Amino acid sequence: MINKDHPQYVYLDTAASTPVTDEVVAEMLPFLKERYGNPSSIHKFGRETARAVHLARKRVAEMIGASSSRQIVFTSGGTEANNLALKGAAMCVKKKMPEKNMIITSSIEHDAVLEPCKDLKDGGFVVEHLPVTNEGLVRPSDLENILSDDVALVSIMYANNEIGTIQPIKDLVKITHQADALFHTDAVQAAGKIPINVKSLDIDLMSLSSHKINGPKGIGALYVRSNLEIFPIIHGGGQEWYVRSGTENVPGIVGFGKACELAHQRMKHYQEYVASLRDYVIERVLKEIPQSRLNGLITDRIPNNAHFTFLGVNGEDLIIKLDENGIAASTGSACSVKKQKQSHVLKAMGFSYEEITGSLRLSFGMHNTRDEVEKAVEVLSRVVKELRNLSPFKSKYLTEMS
Ligand SMILES: Cc1ncc(COP(=O)(O)O)c(C=O)c1O
Repeated sequence: MINKDHPQYVYLDTAASTPVTDEVVAEMLPFLKERYGNPSSIHKFGRETARAVHLARKRVAEMIGASSSRQIVFTSGGTEANNLALKGAAMCVKKKMPEKNMIITSSIEHDAVLEPCKDLKDGGFVVEHLPVTNEGLVRPSDLENILSDDVALVSIMYANNEIGTIQPIKDLVKITHQADALFHTDAVQAAGKIPINVKSLDIDLMSLSSHKINGPKGIGALYVRSNLEIFPIIHGGGQEWYVRSGTENVPGIVGFGKACELAHQRMKHYQEYVASLRDYVIERVLKEIPQSRLNGLITDRIPNNAHFTFLGVNGEDLIIKLDENGIAASTGSACSVKKQKQSHVLKAMGFSYEEITGSLRLSFGMHNTRDEVEKAVEVLSRVVKELRNLSPFKSKYLTEMS
């Protein structure tokens, strides 16, 4: 895609955020201008925006196979949806059944799950983190072994934001329900990219975010199964059925709804096109760059993700060099960059310090072209070679390249 401000730049960081589709912008614009009514108002202006919010809710529900739009609670994004799911559900269960004092999650969750879990632990809950395989997979048998009647909630992400591995959600839900516990999944990286049906999977709570699927930032949703009570974490005027108060972000909700409709309609094409770009890059990188490795699973992986390790290279240096050469990429979670910490995901997968340091995530989207990804591979090959040349251990990595 030609970005008017950066015509030569190749954006390969859709796991961090995506460009907003023109059709989404067009649908949002009236709600930033003349359609400014508060959806709670009784007059014409209010009814107009309330109708738009209703349509958006329906579109979000349809994308995930929810049986009713009533099951969608709009939030300020994936982070808030995760906080609401974890705190709102765990506290509510504990109030009714004080013996249910345990939460199970995985060791590769996004901080938007790990941090609220820490908070719940400070508040008296017992929190257990399941390990993963070296491909980043949660083993259902590990959940089965640890599960007991004390568990209030299990929270396992649908697909990982760094390595793209898709978890065996169906099995995990089944096991969770055997212990009469609730199942939440953070589907921020998966929803809109692969088919998800909350009804057939029997999921209780699921978090979504708009800006990962070509919608605007600052808007997301929590799917809440019918008849499941959760406590609010934001109190006020009682919007969103008293679960999430605050005047609705109408332009954001409208944009998110449109992005869901488009993602749903175009999913097959998205899967084929984006995965073909990704697979082309994976094949060339593994063939052309010595001592490169693909991380995560080959098959059960979201279509837009490729995650590599290049031994002898510092991932941060690689990102800077790629940026100088017109390629936007990432070492992993954009959110963790601020915390300046090593990837807890790769650590949990058993990676060594050197393997973690040399990692790179490329994530693709519908805006990318074949020419762009060809350029990216060529720049990447050259830059990895240059950086290895600067390494004190260069003889270890350059033998196959010279
Ligand atoms: C897996 C996952 N969960 C949650 C979030 C947070 O979503 P948001 O940016 O909408 O708050 C992200 C964002 O990167 C994510 O990748």
